[in-house]
Amino acid sequence: MKKVVNIGIIGTSGRGSGMLGELLDVEGVKVPAVCDKYEDRAQHAFDIVKEKTGEEPAVYLDYKELLARDDIDAIYCATTWITHSRIAIDAMKAGKHVAMEVGGAASIEECWQLVRTSEETGKFCMLLENCCYDRNEMAIFNMVKKGVFGEIIHMAGGYQHDLRDEISLGRENRHGRLYNFQMRNGELYPTHQLGPITKVLGINRGNRFVSLVSMASKSRGLNEWIKKNKGEDYDLADYSFNQGDIVTTMLKCANGETVVLTHDCSLPRNYSRAYRVQGTNGLYMEDGETIYLEGKTAHEEGDWMHHAEDFEKYRDEYEHPLWQKYTREGVHGGHGGMDFLVLSAFAEAVKVGGQPPIDVYDTAVMMAVTCLSEQSIALGSAPVAFPDFTNGMWIDREPYRRGIYCLDEVCEDYFKKED
Ligand SMILES: NC(=O)c1ccc[n+]([C@@H]2O[C@H](COP(=O)([O-])OP(=O)(O)OC[C@H]3O[C@@H](n4cnc5c(N)ncnc54)[C@H](O)[C@@H]3O)[C@@H](O)[C@H]2O)c1
Repeated sequence: MKKVVNIGIIGTSGRGSGMLGELLDVEGVKVPAVCDKYEDRAQHAFDIVKEKTGEEPAVYLDYKELLARDDIDAIYCATTWITHSRIAIDAMKAGKHVAMEVGGAASIEECWQLVRTSEETGKFCMLLENCCYDRNEMAIFNMVKKGVFGEIIHMAGGYQHDLRDEISLGRENRHGRLYNFQMRNGELYPTHQLGPITKVLGINRGNRFVSLVSMASKSRGLNEWIKKNKGEDYDLADYSFNQGDIVTTMLKCANGETVVLTHDCSLPRNYSRAYRVQGTNGLYMEDGETIYLEGKTAHEEGDWMHHAEDFEKYRDEYEHPLWQKYTREGVHGGHGGMDFLVLSAFAEAVKVGGQPPIDVYDTAVMMAVTCLSEQSIALGSAPVAFPDFTNGMWIDREPYRRGIYCLDEVCEDYFKKED
């Protein structure tokens, strides 16, 4: 196991530069090279590294020059959705492991290319799905594994985030989302809740998605926001956006479970990933932070409503050992601490040279939801078949690597070893 690894960063806008600061806090990580096609953003990344470490990373505007270096073990890619896979594939071919920011695929071919390149080069490709490491999601995973919900039957989640300003001002802010909302219509950002869902359902390890159906509402939210905030004469005020305001997607699993995803980014609303986990013993719902468990949740005779109770006490009782350790040692970083954990998990996989907790098959499955949902919507919400990126291996996979960042099992023994 390497003690120190060199990670190059490609794409240093809001997300990339924020994560860069945290990556530099991960033990044993050095960032000797930074890249963005915009010079000011690449320079900003240089400044972050210089300020935090005193070292001066090389600055690139062309990512291929960064990939040509032979001292880089892995790259972290935080570019736009439609550029992630190309860069990841080139990086694996150049002998680097890859962490890729979240986003969906534009085609199924793109997903296969990721899978085949990873298999051929032996380099891993990890979708950096930070929500897998969120505190509640990890506690719920622990509860699922302990059988608290019984057998899981149904799950739901969504990316429900008012991004009307970020999307509408995409040209002014050189941000990648706008063009996708103009041209596409589908579940554009499936992975935030799908990450935790796939791990609970054992997708690619004894289970898989077999089919998907998507439906899109009409599109009004962006036009209304633009008219109010940029005026009726602004050139996008009456633009006919392809992307529906609400896109709902249903997935069916080989083992019989169902999943509903909601994409909701262009209407006024509060942030929520609307996580829902439902089994034969009861359910958890993020909206309202409640839980209902048969035989546990107090139930008064004659109360036909079956009132739920607060989730908090269960979160404390079933806190994932990674979060117990993290809260003891000091939570830091963005998005409530989960960003630092996902970066630590990535860095650990680079140090040991493989088997990240989210592998290329998980990455391909999550990303594929986007282009499959676009196809389903284009076909009038027809069901579409979900490819098996493992080519049958989901039935009998090689074992996952156990450890403190493992997302397939709660490896309590590893925490005891550390204590
Ligand atoms: N996990 C999270 O919580 C989270 C949060 C925010 C953003 N993100 C994801 O991070 C990614 C980046 O988000 P952002 O808001 O910073 O987007 P952005 O559009 O502002 O930035 C993308 C950057 O990539 C650069 N880029 C594009 N193609 C490039 C290329 N070929 N070579 C070098 N640089 C290139 C662009 O110049 C730009 O600076 C997106 O995938 C987004 O979905 C994830």
